[in-house]
Amino acid sequence: MSVLIAPSILSADFAALGDAIAAAERGGADLIHVDVMDGHFVPNITMGPQVVHSMKLVATVPLDVHLMISDPDRFIEAFAEAGAAMISVHVEVLPHLHRTVHAIKGLGVKAGVVLNPSTPIVAIEQIAGDVDFVLVMSVNPGFGGQTFIPRSEAKVQDVRALLDRSNNPAPIEIDGGIDLQNVGRVVAAGARIIVAGSALFHTPDPERATRDLKTAALGAVSASSTR
Ligand code: DX5
Ligand code: ZN
Repeated sequence: MSVLIAPSILSADFAALGDAIAAAERGGADLIHVDVMDGHFVPNITMGPQVVHSMKLVATVPLDVHLMISDPDRFIEAFAEAGAAMISVHVEVLPHLHRTVHAIKGLGVKAGVVLNPSTPIVAIEQIAGDVDFVLVMSVNPGFGGQTFIPRSEAKVQDVRALLDRSNNPAPIEIDGGIDLQNVGRVVAAGARIIVAGSALFHTPDPERATRDLKTAALGAVSASSTR
């Protein structure tokens, strides 16, 4: 894998999700990032397994489902059945993270763990060898269109070091406030799955914005591999 672009459908027009997915895919989206919020863990409510199922019928790339919900264990199976290829869960709500990660994998879905901006990396130290990816939040979850927290770059580097110590080549995903200005820096820090919502869908041409972000991200990977 070099770098994958995962447009976040949260910033799209919910009355025209199929069109948004198609535009992102024409622009070179590698995944579609789906933000699931329950109004408890985060102060917003979005969508559930039924919407994921409908998206699965039209998407040609894998669906990356980010669960921002208080009790993810209750819903993992439903999202897997709906067509999620990747499911990520927040460490802040899971006292039995090892069990949850292996339950996701047992459903044939890639398992990711998510760290909020204030959550220390030590929270995933004991599970680092088991995960398929780690999602570093670069905003406090709940809404699209927030400002990137600069400290996240160093956090990506530290998570990469932890995964490397665990002999796990799993990619790091970054989510929140990513745009053309900062994508090069987060890729240089080690991020290899790039989520972006408002920077793509709050533009006149989401297809072109996706293509431009991907070009910038791929350029940054080449630059960091020749450094
Ligand atoms: C925030 C979500 C993000 C969000 C990103 O809680 O997890 O995926 O949609 O949107 P932007 O790119 O606008 O910050
Ligand atoms: Zn997300």
